Amino acid sequence: MNKTELVTVVGFAMLLLFPPSHAEVCPPPCRCRSLGESKGLHIDCSSRQLREVPALPLHTRRLYLHNNSLSWVPPGTLDGLRGLEEVRMSDNPWNCDCHILYLKLWLEDISAASLANVRCASPAPLRMKPLRQLTGNELGVCKRFLPIKCLDFFWRDLILIAGVIITLILVAWALKFSKKLVCQINLRQYNCRR
Ligand SMILES: *[C@@H]1O[C@H](CO)[C@@H](O)[C@H](O)[C@H]1NC(C)=O
Repeated sequence: MNKTELVTVVGFAMLLLFPPSHAEVCPPPCRCRSLGESKGLHIDCSSRQLREVPALPLHTRRLYLHNNSLSWVPPGTLDGLRGLEEVRMSDNPWNCDCHILYLKLWLEDISAASLANVRCASPAPLRMKPLRQLTGNELGVCKRFLPIKCLDFFWRDLILIAGVIITLILVAWALKFSKKLVCQINLRQYNCRR
């Protein structure tokens, strides 16, 4: 394999391992138009029965996602969209458990207007409640707020610590045993000499 081939293969492998989360083109279900050179894109993904936010170009300026079937936005999904000025997320069946906090904070960052009209659909006690008015208490405690990776680390650490303790016990036991052995050998030599 020559160098170019190697680079291609590695590049392809990286692409498989870490697929880019941002598209450079218009996401297929949406309608896009340019707002002019370096002004970004107007992206209309409204009324398309979307269940998840599509991959969006980084230079998105206006984003319309209202009247879809979105219930949550995975944390981090929208972080790259720095040039955003206008967002509409209303009329979606938002599930207001602790995971909705990402969307709430993100919308607050963009503007108060973008948070307006975004209402919860579930759980039942929060139905029709504006996302803007949700308090920490209502969001509840996420039982699995720790990302899975954190839990993995926890278990790995636990196994490591258990391993260290077992090793220490074995070493202590081996030392004791070897002391006894040395003692016996010394004793035997002593007996021999006598
Ligand atoms: C919402 O979207 C559905 C299709 O998913 C469409 O039929 C309906 O007209 C839309 N409602 C509004 C108010 O745009």
